Amino acid sequence: MVQRMFSSAAQQYDLNNTVLSFGIHHYWKRYATGQTGIKEGGKALDVCSGTADIAILMAKRIGPSGHVTAVDLNPEMLEIGKQKVQKYGLGGLISCTLGNAESLQFGENTFDATTVGFGVRNVNNLERAFSEMYRVTRPGGRGVCLEFTQPANRIIKFLYDFYSFTLLPAVGTLISGDRTGIYEYLPDSIRKFPPPEPLRQLMLGVGFSEVYYVSLSGGIVAIHVGIK
Ligand SMILES: C[S@@+](CC[C@H](N)C(=O)[O-])C[C@H]1O[C@@H](n2cnc3c(N)ncnc32)[C@H](O)[C@@H]1O
Repeated sequence: MVQRMFSSAAQQYDLNNTVLSFGIHHYWKRYATGQTGIKEGGKALDVCSGTADIAILMAKRIGPSGHVTAVDLNPEMLEIGKQKVQKYGLGGLISCTLGNAESLQFGENTFDATTVGFGVRNVNNLERAFSEMYRVTRPGGRGVCLEFTQPANRIIKFLYDFYSFTLLPAVGTLISGDRTGIYEYLPDSIRKFPPPEPLRQLMLGVGFSEVYYVSLSGGIVAIHVGIK
C-alpha cells in the first residue's frame, strides 16, 4: 500500500516537499548530513533515499574521491533521484539502486556513514531497519536518522496538527493529483511513530552507542545520531 502511494506521488514529490514544508526540508536535510561526521573521500549509504536529496548532499560533502549509494524500494521515486543525480553531474559519485531497508544487500562494516530521511516511518519493522543500518556501518561510523516527530509545546502542536490534518492533505493532493491518500497517510504515520526518546532507546538497543538527538523547528523533526 505504501509503495503504491509513493509510486503515485513520485513525479510531484519534490515540489510537494518544498511547498508543504515552505522549503525548510532542505535545511533539515543539510543539518542531518552535517551530523554524519563524513570526511572527504568517505563512503556513505542513504537508505529510503527516494528522490536522492540526502544522497546528493552527502556527495557534495564527500567530494569526488568518495562514493554514495542511494537505496530505495520504489522504482518511480528512484528514477526521479537518478535524473537529479545526472542533472547535478554526480553520476560518477552516486549509485541509485533498488533495495529494502529491512534486508540491505551490502556486507557488514561497509559504510563510513549511513543516513535515512523520512523513511523508517514507512518500513514494516523499525528495529530490523535500524539493525540493518547498524550492520552495514563500519565501526566508528555513524548512523543518522531524520524523521518527523510531534512537537512537545502544546501551542506549536495545536497549530501543527491543524496544518497537517487539514491544509497539508488538501494542498498535497491538489499538487500531486494523488488518488491513493498518501497525504492523509503521512500525518497519520507521524502520530504513530515513536517519540524521540523511545527512538533513541531503540537505536541503542540495536547496538549504536552515544545516541543523541537534536530537535529542529519547534520539534517538528528530530535527528538521531548513533555511533557504531
Ligand atoms: C517520504 S520518502 C523520503 C525520501 C527521501 N529520503 C527524502 O527525504 O526526501 C520515503 C521513501 O522511503 C521508501 N521506502 C519505504 N519503505 C522502504 C523500505 N522498506 N526499503 C527501502 N525504501 C523504502 C519509499 O519508497 C520512499 O521513497
